[in-house]
Amino acid sequence: MNGKKRTLVTCALPYANGPVHIGHLAGVYVPADIYVRYLRMRGEDVLYVCGSDEHGVPITIKAREQGCSPQDIVDRYHKLIRDSFSGLGINFDIYGRTSSAVHAEGASEFFRKLYDDGKFVTRESEQYYDPEAQTFLADRYIVGTCPKCGNEGAYGDQCEKCGSTLSPEELINPRSKLSGAAPIKKKTTHWYLPLQDYEQWLREWILDGHKEWRTNVYGQVKSWLDGGLQPRAVTRDLDWGVPVPVEGAEGKVLYVWFDAPIGYISNTRELLPQSWEKWWKSEDTRLVHFIGKDNIVFHCIVFPSMLKAYGDGYILPENVPANEFLNLEGDKISTSRGWAVWAHEFLKDFPGKEDVMRYVLTANAPQTADNDFSWKDFQTRNNSELVAVFGNFVNRAVVLTHKYFGGKVPPCGPLLDVDKEVIAEIPALKASMEKNLETYRFREALKDAMGIARAGNKYISDTEPWKVAKTDLDRTATILNISMQICADLAVAFEPFTPFAAERLRNMLKVGFFAGSDHRKGERQTENTYVEGEGRALHTGVTSENGIVLDWELLGRPQILPAGHEIGEAELLFAKIEDDQIQLQLDKLEAIRAERAAREKAEAAKKVALQKEECTFEDFEKMDIRTATVLEAERVPKTDKLLRLTIDTGIDRRVIVSGIAEFYSPEDMVGKQICILANLKPRVIRGIESHGMILMAKQGDGKMRFITPQELVSNGAQVG
Ligand code: 2FM
Ligand code: ZN
Repeated sequence: MNGKKRTLVTCALPYANGPVHIGHLAGVYVPADIYVRYLRMRGEDVLYVCGSDEHGVPITIKAREQGCSPQDIVDRYHKLIRDSFSGLGINFDIYGRTSSAVHAEGASEFFRKLYDDGKFVTRESEQYYDPEAQTFLADRYIVGTCPKCGNEGAYGDQCEKCGSTLSPEELINPRSKLSGAAPIKKKTTHWYLPLQDYEQWLREWILDGHKEWRTNVYGQVKSWLDGGLQPRAVTRDLDWGVPVPVEGAEGKVLYVWFDAPIGYISNTRELLPQSWEKWWKSEDTRLVHFIGKDNIVFHCIVFPSMLKAYGDGYILPENVPANEFLNLEGDKISTSRGWAVWAHEFLKDFPGKEDVMRYVLTANAPQTADNDFSWKDFQTRNNSELVAVFGNFVNRAVVLTHKYFGGKVPPCGPLLDVDKEVIAEIPALKASMEKNLETYRFREALKDAMGIARAGNKYISDTEPWKVAKTDLDRTATILNISMQICADLAVAFEPFTPFAAERLRNMLKVGFFAGSDHRKGERQTENTYVEGEGRALHTGVTSENGIVLDWELLGRPQILPAGHEIGEAELLFAKIEDDQIQLQLDKLEAIRAERAAREKAEAAKKVALQKEECTFEDFEKMDIRTATVLEAERVPKTDKLLRLTIDTGIDRRVIVSGIAEFYSPEDMVGKQICILANLKPRVIRGIESHGMILMAKQGDGKMRFITPQELVSNGAQVG
């Protein structure tokens, strides 16, 4: 690739404060895995690095909420996330952690060198401080009422209810999450990386030099640069993180976004303590960062500036193919609202369907715009594409080869046009796939791979070997020979996308596989490097007894499987997903929706309207409030809200039109004693003259109940 010797692929380090969901998978990990598998099949030397991001304020908050230590939290989620990835066939060379000793040492050293080289500036600023807990407060540790939507649990950096970005200053009635005390401002000093010093260099490197980057990435970088860069704090007042390694910095740690990207380097060092530098400091290495769109600024501006400041030959990314976001059933995925499909739950609910998820997330990848995942689409893509096209074709080819030729690839005779056409399609699709994979267009590459399956399926349907066999076994042999070659093509083409199915197919075809580089064993075994026997679909090359080893170059070549090659028994590559399995998932989501709606309703009900402006006793005296009894009640025709009530006010009998039909039916009202404003000027409502108003108590959610005396009193009694 580009004449470079090796490729270093990094995936955004997920925060170890919650499980990963399909949005993470679609945005970062599935595309990265496709890319790595493809390069490896081509014989490229690839190092595939990821790990948990274990610092930052949200982790400390979660620990506090759960009454455990931050380390307990990250231990739990590190394991859960690592296992989710491996369950989906995403096997990094190393899945490290930023709480490791290697990382603490590496991140400290990185900071220290920049510090010693005078690359930072210090600034004194006023930060929020909890006078009771005697500690500085990160914005997340300050809660209050959102000025935009009135949510009383908004954070100092964001309101999770309405999604607004906030600053602590904007919160109404701010208080510390730790002690409940009102925060005060206190002076503190931090180290800043003066990003503005790198602006010109970033412009040249990205805006002039990488016009080929995705428009969403390029556009975001351009708007940051056009907006003018500011110094960025790289330290925080916090007790969870890598301590700032200079004197006088007690109680301060490296900011999580300073230490996390260094984690890529630390994890490489942990795996390859002797040779890590060739992956990070050699012009022969291509570096590619797979991330989601919320990480663009850190990977395109902050981290590159850190590497540039450090010097010493660190390379910069050749590309940063960031994805947009995936929605779920039309709604934004939200961890806090529980609106997500979690990877570990999916693996439990759908054993053996790992490939289906990989396939669907790729087919719907949010590459250029946000995209949506729906369970119905998941089912349809499985049943009508994987089962009905790919699986069906392979099954027909393998079953018929057993039926007519005893499970041996039959010889290929003279070719007809229909044969030549299908054979010619494959190299063209392969070329398109290569172009798409190498330019990070995985959705389009998957379409190409599926194009091979569709071509095969159509070929076998058009040529009908089961009919031809009745009269012409030689022709049947040719059709099935070609079909078996297409099966071998599919085993190669689908390896990046659906590796479990590709493996099953290879086993059916009794062929080996060239999987290329695998650095998981590293130079020594550590707790985060690969452990023999863990995970699934290990990325090791398997050679077959008969010496047929599939690799990328074979895709589209004639006669991959020679005549006489014995294949294994037919096995279904994909199974149908039934409606009840999908319904279960939809019910799960519906339950989350219903719970959320109920919670919001209860919260809204609790909301109390602000007190109105002061009034005088005389103002109040003007109102003639009386008790009355409802004699008759009926709905006002063609309205949803209005009731026409005839009431006995003690003074007279009169009609009042009231907007309470949402809350009371006519039958509810008859015979009830209520309170009315008797001297309200009459109004005509829907053609009916209304003489007064019924007094109602209105809750925060709009629900209304009428006011009634505690005990029955005579009608016309004055209320006041
Ligand atoms: O957004 C996130 O989930 C971050 N934890 C990503 C970090 S990427 C890298 F810099 F480590
Ligand atoms: Zn809000």
